[in-house]
Amino acid sequence: MILVAAAIIWLVRSRQKNTVDLSFSAVLTHTFHKSGEQVCRIPKLDVNAPAIVKLLNTPKPLTCNQTEKNWAFVENGRFYIADEAVRVHGLIECNHYRFWRVSDDELASDIISDVQNGSLIEKSDYFRAECIAKDKNKWSNLFATIVPDLSAIEKAKAAKKLAAATNLDVFILIFDSLSSLMFQRKLKKAYKFLIQDLEAIVLEGYNIVGDGTPQAMIPILTAQTELELPLTRKRYKNASYLDDVYPMIWRNFSKHGYVTMYAEDSAALGTFTYRLKGFNKQPTNHYMRTFFMQAEKEMKNRMCVGSEPQHVTWFRYGENFFDQYPTKVNKFALMHHSLLSHSDINLIELADDDLTTHLMRMRDKGHLNNTLLIVMADHGHRFAKLRETHQGQLEERLPFFSFVMPPWFRQSHGKLAWANLKMNAKRLTTPFDIHATLMDILSWPTDEQLTDVDFPKERSMSLWRPIPSDRICAEAGVEAHWCTCLNWESADGYESEVNATARALVQAINDQTKPERKLCAELSLNKIVDAKRLVSHSDVLRYKWVKDKDGFVPDLSGKTKLSFATYQLHVITEPGHALYEATLQFNIDNGNVTIDFTSISHINAYGDQPHCIIDKNYFLAAYCVCYDKI
Ligand SMILES: *[C@@H]1O[C@H](CO)[C@@H](O)[C@H](O)[C@H]1NC(C)=O
Ligand SMILES: *[C@@H]1O[C@H](CO)[C@@H](O)[C@H](O)[C@H]1NC(C)=O
Ligand SMILES: *[C@@H]1O[C@H](CO)[C@@H](O)[C@H](O)[C@H]1NC(C)=O
Ligand SMILES: *[C@@H]1O[C@H](CO)[C@@H](O)[C@H](O)[C@H]1NC(C)=O
Ligand SMILES: *[C@@H]1O[C@H](CO)[C@@H](O)[C@H](O)[C@H]1NC(C)=O
Ligand SMILES: *[C@@H]1O[C@H](CO)[C@@H](O)[C@H](O)[C@H]1NC(C)=O
Repeated sequence: MILVAAAIIWLVRSRQKNTVDLSFSAVLTHTFHKSGEQVCRIPKLDVNAPAIVKLLNTPKPLTCNQTEKNWAFVENGRFYIADEAVRVHGLIECNHYRFWRVSDDELASDIISDVQNGSLIEKSDYFRAECIAKDKNKWSNLFATIVPDLSAIEKAKAAKKLAAATNLDVFILIFDSLSSLMFQRKLKKAYKFLIQDLEAIVLEGYNIVGDGTPQAMIPILTAQTELELPLTRKRYKNASYLDDVYPMIWRNFSKHGYVTMYAEDSAALGTFTYRLKGFNKQPTNHYMRTFFMQAEKEMKNRMCVGSEPQHVTWFRYGENFFDQYPTKVNKFALMHHSLLSHSDINLIELADDDLTTHLMRMRDKGHLNNTLLIVMADHGHRFAKLRETHQGQLEERLPFFSFVMPPWFRQSHGKLAWANLKMNAKRLTTPFDIHATLMDILSWPTDEQLTDVDFPKERSMSLWRPIPSDRICAEAGVEAHWCTCLNWESADGYESEVNATARALVQAINDQTKPERKLCAELSLNKIVDAKRLVSHSDVLRYKWVKDKDGFVPDLSGKTKLSFATYQLHVITEPGHALYEATLQFNIDNGNVTIDFTSISHINAYGDQPHCIIDKNYFLAAYCVCYDKI
């Protein structure tokens, strides 16, 4: 029987004083359960893992130009001169130096002189305002806003007439290099807002499929890998532009009448332009590389755009996309932030308040009313210092991934899908699946498709539909050295860990019954009947780095030490001869044992042994042997 209690996490130091006679000789026979063999067990990682926590600190706040607030700002597509600046400096005149994309390496520009306060911004999303005041002071700053693409609006209207269903908008916010846990550690407020206010679902088994950002994004955008697609690496003469050969998903959205945006906050190190050849034609209606090409050239402090943090400018650009297009026009936006998070594990904390505010504003303006919001990361941090630790290796492979759907959709059209997503959150999922998940937005699955569990396992499976519980890495397109699923193996050779965990288990049980010691006898460990351990694949631990420039050939010469193992034990306790099955986590670094009472089962019949406690405390029945039964 399985005793289900509230999930009490019980932590016990394993080094205990009680002495129990243990005979290991007749013990460790591993009769593995056949049924449970082919299941991906996703590691439950500790948000307070010492290996990571010791690297954390709180960064100093950003000090963007504080003495001089920006003289000008953009609102609702118009350019305004701030009253305060005029008060301080007298009349202000501004010219606009507009710039736009010619190619991924070249910009063109023009100048409009004497731009009036309140002027509509036209032609390009990006410009530099150069202003001079009556007192001869000068000021200039870069701006990014959305100038709606009228032809895209026309196209959207035409597509709407054809489409029967009203589709959801898609808004994807990506943060570079944030594991699921690091997001929780560093973006605490945003995480709380996502979970509590927006009722986000966070994927627990979202496993990367390759090294670095392109290998995280290409499967999402194309359902394929770089190696499966035509050559686009720019160091080869015969390489193609991505848009000529990659079936980027935003084109499918565009075909369905969506206006599209790709807003990566980095040009020099762009995901598709650093190692890859980039795009021939502008890939989306709005394309922020153009802005950052200029910004990286002229900004001394990349963290700030004038008196404003860069990430605030970037968030606003995303918000403007929803502000500036009519609600009726469907939108697909993919935003990628790397400035704060790519090379530092702590700095992203500086964006916590602003991300939270951004999400609040998006909600309050109604921009999430008809939107699938995805807040995610491409992968976890990849610094050597972290990669050398077991925890760091697993975190690199388990990036943050969350879904938010409008409440009305979850309660109507999307009810089955939302329930499936909740279930799938605990299963193995990958970037390939996100492609199928997004494609479903364009043609929403039928109820039959949403309930069908009898379909072939594919590499790319929509998360709105049921993902098989027995899906394993090989089926999901995850190579062994990326696969975080834990494997059961024999516990031979780990007697002292087994011993420690078994003792901790009995101690935890005794601690439960302790308040009722007058009724329930103290138990002691009689025998460990069976033990197996659940550990990371050895290729994960051996993974050190890559051997090639493109990150496809793994170097498996590493020797990372396991920092934890999960044990499944069958133990017999006396008096009462109870047989318990329990799954516990053993922390190899400090000897702590973590016990979740929901994973302890009393698996032999216990008859009326606990009769004295059953009416008083049903939860204790599985752990209590009444004295009169001894
Ligand atoms: C610019 O226009 C806005 C709105 O019309 C007005 O509130 C503001 O005072 C003007 N600023 C200046 C400096 O003229
Ligand atoms: C491109 O060139 C490389 C070597 O320069 C060659 O190995 C490869 O097969 C070529 N690919 C295509 C698609 O022509
Ligand atoms: C998505 O667009 C690509 C071209 O970019 C096309 O090859 C593919 O068939 C489209 N997928 C669907 C399901 O329409
Ligand atoms: C968003 O939806 C809510 C609930 O249906 C509604 O009250 C609100 O007016 C909507 N907001 C916008 C801007 O459409
Ligand atoms: C099990 O633990 C007890 C108490 O710490 C110890 O006395 C005993 O030697 C251990 N047995 C093995 C096989 O490690
Ligand atoms: C685990 O062990 C450490 C010391 O090794 C101790 O400080 C801590 O309290 C223990 N418990 C938890 C929950 O980490």
